[in-house]
Amino acid sequence: MTSERETSTHFGFSEVGLDEKQGLVDDVFHKVARRYDIMNDLMSGGMHRLWKDVFAAKVRPARRGPFRHLDVAGGTGDIAFRIAKAAGPEAEIVVLDINGDMLDVGRDRAQERGLSDKLEFVQANAESLPFPDAHFDAYTIAFGIRNVPRIEVALAEAHRVLKPGGRFLCLEFSQVAIPGLDKIYEAYSFNVIPAIGKLVAGDGEPYRYLVESIQRFPRADEFERMIRRAGFRRTGFERLTGGVVAIHSGWKL
Ligand SMILES: C[S@@+](CC[C@H](N)C(=O)[O-])C[C@H]1O[C@@H](n2cnc3c(N)ncnc32)[C@H](O)[C@@H]1O
Repeated sequence: MTSERETSTHFGFSEVGLDEKQGLVDDVFHKVARRYDIMNDLMSGGMHRLWKDVFAAKVRPARRGPFRHLDVAGGTGDIAFRIAKAAGPEAEIVVLDINGDMLDVGRDRAQERGLSDKLEFVQANAESLPFPDAHFDAYTIAFGIRNVPRIEVALAEAHRVLKPGGRFLCLEFSQVAIPGLDKIYEAYSFNVIPAIGKLVAGDGEPYRYLVESIQRFPRADEFERMIRRAGFRRTGFERLTGGVVAIHSGWKL
């Protein structure tokens, strides 16, 4: 966990400066951008599609009338595409990511799917959102928050840009809560995932970071407290697949 006063954080298992972390994270996603989607399928055995379906279904965008949605750390667009399909014609959906390479892949995919008109791609930092206060009806962030150096700052920004009555939803890896499964999951994460990375993307290191960063991420109950501290109310979380991932939610009231 980090606070605005702290100067260091974690990059995987290494201690790094807060400002250094973002550069290291960006290197990881520059390296993997073109292989990112195929790697997700391979590493999760396709499970990420199911988790994203469950997650995006919680947004319930308006079918009629205006609806403004912000998907932060939106990468290659997986969450935004699901929301765009469910939303009505007046919906405005922004995919925001710090990494231009990930957004380029997202733009290409949006075009292939005929969704370009519904989506806007914005390159920016989750810690400093280029939008006015009380602008969006909903905010999502999937597999993104653990990469952000100052999580509290990103949560405060989420709260700021949401309208009163707006919903915050976060999908992130979590801690496996089933004895036995935790050991299998750990062995798989530390051995199989970097090996697949090396084989398919030619480099296992970015995937070692991903696995280490999952281990360092706060426990589900602790992360819920962080969301409350950012000002959200009626917060809660739901574990999927024995706790491999969790969906946290909250409302700006
Ligand atoms: C694991 S990917 C998730 C992409 C997508 N949400 C998904 O579920 O497939 C993490 C994304 O977070 C982005 N990211 C990392 N730090 C960020 C920051 N400070 N602000 C915005 N995006 C960031 C990365 O560039 C990357 O695209």
